Amino acid sequence: MVILGLETSCDETSAAVVEGGRSVLSCVISSSVGDFSLLGGVIPEQAARRQLECIVPVIEASLRKAGKTKEDIDAIAVTSGPGLLGSLLVGTTAARALAGILGVPLIPVHHTHGHLLSTWLDLSEEPVFPLLTLSVSGGHTDLWRLTSKTRGILLGRTLDDAAGEAFDKGAKELGLPYPGGPELSKLALSGDKHAVRFPDPLSEEGNLDFSFSGLKTSLKYVLRDLSPAKREVEKANIAASFEYAICKHLTRKLERAIERYPDTREVHIVGGVSANRTLRSMAMAVVSGAGIPLRFPLRIQYCTDNAAMIAAAGFALKESGEVQGDFQTCAVRRLSEVLLPS
Ligand code: KG4
Ligand code: ZN
Repeated sequence: MVILGLETSCDETSAAVVEGGRSVLSCVISSSVGDFSLLGGVIPEQAARRQLECIVPVIEASLRKAGKTKEDIDAIAVTSGPGLLGSLLVGTTAARALAGILGVPLIPVHHTHGHLLSTWLDLSEEPVFPLLTLSVSGGHTDLWRLTSKTRGILLGRTLDDAAGEAFDKGAKELGLPYPGGPELSKLALSGDKHAVRFPDPLSEEGNLDFSFSGLKTSLKYVLRDLSPAKREVEKANIAASFEYAICKHLTRKLERAIERYPDTREVHIVGGVSANRTLRSMAMAVVSGAGIPLRFPLRIQYCTDNAAMIAAAGFALKESGEVQGDFQTCAVRRLSEVLLPS
């Protein structure tokens, strides 16, 4: 089955053609994020207007790159939420129109479900269940136990900010452009991660939840107590310590989840923050200690928002015959409310 995936939940306009839920024939991503780098965040109205301009050329490019025509498409999967309303409307309206014209099924996909299945893209073998998936992006931070591609339970989630949001807010405090995660990570390369001791959030709690807002406040205090000159000198050390604190928090909870669920066959880490090198190496240390395979999305472009993962989730829903409700349901509900329990 050949699925055309569309994803327009934030600043990106993406279209992808995916065969059999895994084989990516094309994945085109056009992002307006550069427009917002000095503004510290996306302006929803502006992002949606850009998406309106490029949705048709992006779809055409994805078909061309895949060597397919519209008539080769068996179904259309589209992110129906959560995300910026105007942006989502651009994608869902295009998808509805195209599905109507071509007479093919339209599959609404929850954005986070797409991230969970991003590790399937370009993979030659099928992952083995049950698996633990840490999903870390700018909008959410969730720890899942999946028993199939469409079934799972949410073991833990952030109680406040998302991990990517912590990176972005930290980067803003350090005067770095938006989106700050990759910028902060680059700066951290030349710093000492032990230079500043940040608190370890929720370390006393036995649960698998996360919290990042305290780290951001600590960073504010660290910077406030330094002179502008000293702040400049210490910038890389502070970035490295802040990044380390975020990754330590994430991997400590991951380690606890592995201990709690000894039948776990694989661990996956997905979402924009899974592109982070420090997180990757710290997770590797934790997971290899337990003798379990660890997977990340095979390409960096599959970590951040992309339409191929939406096509993969659309395929899984079609294959299983399960639906995640109508467009409205996906737009307002958390994935834990629409994904079937084990
Ligand atoms: O999954 P994604 O593209 O969009 C959402 O669904 O939110 O994730 C974007 C987030 C941003 O917060 C961005 O700063 C973060 O992922 N990110 C990173 C890195 N690359 C992207 N954070 C840390 N290190 C990176 N290398
Ligand atoms: Zn995302």
